[in-house]
Amino acid sequence: MTKIVTLGIESSCDDTSVAVFIDNEVQTNLTASQKIHNDYGGVVPELASRAHQANILPTLDQALEKAQLSIEHIDLIAFTKGPGLLGSLHVGTSFAKGLALALNKPLIGIDHMQGHILAHFIKEPNQELRAPSFPFLCLTVSGGHTQIVHVKDYFDTKIIGSTRDDAAGEAFDKIAKMLKLGYPGGPLIDKMAKKGNPLAFDFPITNLDEYAFSFSGIKTAVMYFLDKQPKGFIEQHMADICASAQHAICKMLLLKIKKAAKDYNIKDIALAGGVSANSYLRVLVDQWAHQKNLRTYYPKIQYCTDNGAMIAIAGYLKYLQGHQDDLSVTAKARLY
Ligand code: KG4
Ligand code: ZN
Repeated sequence: MTKIVTLGIESSCDDTSVAVFIDNEVQTNLTASQKIHNDYGGVVPELASRAHQANILPTLDQALEKAQLSIEHIDLIAFTKGPGLLGSLHVGTSFAKGLALALNKPLIGIDHMQGHILAHFIKEPNQELRAPSFPFLCLTVSGGHTQIVHVKDYFDTKIIGSTRDDAAGEAFDKIAKMLKLGYPGGPLIDKMAKKGNPLAFDFPITNLDEYAFSFSGIKTAVMYFLDKQPKGFIEQHMADICASAQHAICKMLLLKIKKAAKDYNIKDIALAGGVSANSYLRVLVDQWAHQKNLRTYYPKIQYCTDNGAMIAIAGYLKYLQGHQDDLSVTAKARLY
């Protein structure tokens, strides 16, 4: 059978990422991260779209060069159609549509959250694929979303729980901002927390009905806690504060995935999205899974945070199922 060369384009937030695949195997995954937002403690949408515009073509050129392929080899173009920042999505969408038109190749728009889940099916060259078996549960935790998804097949998925307010990644980012650690906050808190005691301070664990999450309580609790501390206290106890806040966020995530695994009687537990890179969360989930004889799956770190590879694999799998978009496809900030 002839092999399919898929291009994956991701531009939903602040990373311009392009991946080249041959069938389900990643050849290159190149990301141009936007440092420009660091000074603002969060992504500035207008600056993000402009940076995507500047980065997208050079990223594609380099990705193809690294894969030792040229533009004529591309068989399929997959791109993120949403959810995300509309201006940023427009850059990737227009670029993908232009390319599909110029090359006369099929085009597929991908749901970014679906892409995060399907990152589990990215095969590395010369390595066996270790992927969860259907049906599995995926805790998809990013900067904009927190979901528990019941995955019956690649594109047969149901969101059984999501956040009522902030996303888990947003909680990490906002707490890091209060602590003046920088952006994105998740990896910075993760690193700082390694030197701290997760039980040093008692931050609240919100436990809503069923599989619903809420992270606004911990954010506010940390804010009040920091407000009332004497001068120098925060700097002195930075590692303990980070470890304790991280503990509370991860415990809330664990609580719901535990409940869902029990209720749905599921053996394969997958994590996806930027927060699934968190080292403490992985330890907590693994400890529980080990006790219960469950299997856990985490994407490689570079496929947890936003990347073109997850869009390419999703596009490839969708194409195999006979899907295609025409040029009328548009970017959408919200899909749910
Ligand atoms: O999936 P992602 O790259 O982008 C979105 O779709 O939002 O997720 C970004 C989020 C940010 O909030 C970032 O702080 C968080 O993922 N993140 C982490 C870690 N690495 C990234 N959170 C906790 N621990 C990490 N190691
Ligand atoms: Zn994402």
